[in-house]
Amino acid sequence: MKKQPHTGCHFGLPPKDMHWWRNARFGMFIHWGVYAIPGRGEWLMWNEQIPFREYRRLADQFRPRKFDANAWAACARDAGMKYLVLTTRHHDGFCLFDSKVSDFTSVKTAAKRDFIAEYVVACRKAGLKVGFYYSPLDWRFPGFFFPDLYRESAEAMKQQTYDQVRELLTNYGKIDILWFDGGGDDWLGFGGIEWGGSKPGWHSRDSNWPQVEHFKGKPLWEPDKLYAMIRTLQPKIVMNDRAGHSDTGWSGDFGTPEGRIGEFNTTRACETCDTMTGSWGYRHGSTMRSLRNCIHMLVNCAIRDGNLLLNVGPTADGEIEPSQVRRLGQVGQWLKQYGESICATRGGPVIPRKWGGTTHRGNRIYVHVLDWTEDEIILPPVQHKVKTSRALTCRSANVKVARDGIHISVPQKDRQAPDTIILLETKGK
Ligand code: GLC
Repeated sequence: MKKQPHTGCHFGLPPKDMHWWRNARFGMFIHWGVYAIPGRGEWLMWNEQIPFREYRRLADQFRPRKFDANAWAACARDAGMKYLVLTTRHHDGFCLFDSKVSDFTSVKTAAKRDFIAEYVVACRKAGLKVGFYYSPLDWRFPGFFFPDLYRESAEAMKQQTYDQVRELLTNYGKIDILWFDGGGDDWLGFGGIEWGGSKPGWHSRDSNWPQVEHFKGKPLWEPDKLYAMIRTLQPKIVMNDRAGHSDTGWSGDFGTPEGRIGEFNTTRACETCDTMTGSWGYRHGSTMRSLRNCIHMLVNCAIRDGNLLLNVGPTADGEIEPSQVRRLGQVGQWLKQYGESICATRGGPVIPRKWGGTTHRGNRIYVHVLDWTEDEIILPPVQHKVKTSRALTCRSANVKVARDGIHISVPQKDRQAPDTIILLETKGK
């Protein structure tokens, strides 16, 4: 059959092509670039208002001696993660890949390596799905801040996105996820709205940047053209919602609540992204999440039918800090024991409550009690009769099916932090 070109009216993947992604539940986000050298986070160039001619020198020092994509992939796999998403390029414009349209890349500066190529091979070898983060916005372009004043620059930035997305989706084989950050007309004009007035220049931005004051000028981004190109290059790639709203109303295959757990939603796919340390890019002396916190986040996503993309920011040397590797390994240990209640399940049927919530697969319902806010938990009656019940994390659970619902209690000594899991098997699905 002849391949139909994309007409632009339908970009979303059908459920069968989202299946693996939904089943995966847990992925690794990696923010890595030259900003890791000073170790003050990935917003360094903007936050400290470093002119590009100065910032670019970081690339001359970027020689990560310990970079080993296989070690990253192993860390993700041992954590029970099923996919990775790496910053091919963040807002500073530095590319970890070879690009014909930019000199600010790891291939053309000190490192002289295409880290993306190495990363892709390592993920595949480890049996993990490969994701690319890409930031269309680029702080080096005045047109990003003042698209009206510097229209040409804004157009050039847009062209760069097309060219580089094409490179990324052509040169590395099949890519599973495309994770945009900062695209569409919505993002333009960011921080540069107040040209003239009391704050002339595109270098200034309010500390509480006005979320509402986005670019309202002549439309520039035309996301549908980008989506059509992407679907032609990689028809099954799973795309997030941050590259601008399509004229057709489509906004990505999944939503991306950042730093918070998404809403319970069994129709719209959703992925919470959050950090292990409070910073996306490497930051000296940051603290790390507790194991309980990591597991609670993951369970809280799963019971709402969402994924968790948990971020690490490797050091300038290319290493995920050993303490983070250990912590992720502990999450992996937990998943080895209880993963059946998370991976390849769907959220619900019960809407999450203060104490936790449920996941299910086939005729199995997993009740996750994260906090015993009450001694007896009452689930609303489920559609099918409960046949058996069993505690996964403890010796026993008292489960009574009554007319008003399913009553569950577990004696205090048998409750297990961070999650007491009770399995109910129903007669039908
Ligand atoms: C943000 C930030 C950024 C980070 C991202 C992750 O919008 O700009 O630094 O990469 O979210 O979700």
